Amino acid sequence: MLKIENLSKVYENGFQALYHIDLEIPDGQFVAIIGLSGSGKSTLLRCINRLIEPTEGQIIWNGVDITRATDDEMRQIRRRIGMIFQQFNLVKRSSVITNVMSGRLGYVNPAFSLINYFPRAEKDRALAALKRVGIGEKAYQRASALSGGQQQRVGIARALMQNPELMLADEPVASLDPATSHSVMKYLELLNKEDGITILCSLHFLSLARAYADRVIALKDGRIEFDGSPKDIDEQRFKQIYGEDAVQVEIH
Ligand SMILES: Nc1ncnc2c1ncn2[C@@H]1O[C@H](COP(=O)(O)OP(=O)(O)OP(=O)(O)O)[C@@H](O)[C@H]1O
Ligand SMILES: [Mg+2]
Repeated sequence: MLKIENLSKVYENGFQALYHIDLEIPDGQFVAIIGLSGSGKSTLLRCINRLIEPTEGQIIWNGVDITRATDDEMRQIRRRIGMIFQQFNLVKRSSVITNVMSGRLGYVNPAFSLINYFPRAEKDRALAALKRVGIGEKAYQRASALSGGQQQRVGIARALMQNPELMLADEPVASLDPATSHSVMKYLELLNKEDGITILCSLHFLSLARAYADRVIALKDGRIEFDGSPKDIDEQRFKQIYGEDAVQVEIH
């Protein structure tokens, strides 16, 4: 269970990006976070693993208050929280498998880790993770040689090396075409269903949220505008979230 209580974020320049967010996310849920650009999606996701320091409030995960964790405790906590990014954040000149194994080290730059440094067992784990996301045969290619969708699957495999219980995905498919977006989302769905990993995933397209999420949280100007089942977002709700002029675009 992830419990967020009264979470606010005011940036150094005085801009308030989140206002008193309260949320309870049970283990195993697939949650989509939607909202206009600037509504606070990335800020919320990054506060959860404290890549951004919350200004106020508490984030309690499995009974531990993340907001009060020491640096040592934070390292332990981050090992169980995977993160994937819109821009994949791979070291492009390194091999795919080196990128994946770097997930095991936590936040060490894989550019500094030679492939032979890793024990056999780690390589086997990395190969297994790559197979799970359907790109086992790409292990020894340079990351730069892969398509965007394949690179994001490397990002997922890298996050899997941590055996995460929670996965934070910040617009993981925003740089991808619709068909490729679905192929990446399907792997997130698989990990959610097979491993029970809780997924918090920000998305631009409501159609993707409808297809994959159990629950949709919509942010608007740093506040929760909607929290519920994706099927309860009708035309009126949609306009409340995205504005009167917004038009629903489906991606298939
Ligand atoms: N470091 C910062 N300093 C000041 N303001 C910031 C900073 N980072 C983000 N903001 C502001 O906080 C608000 C929320 O930003 P955030 O990146 O969380 O939005 P988002 O919903 O992820 O948007 P997008 O869909 O464009 O990724 C925005 O108005 C943004 O300009
Ligand atoms: Mg963002």
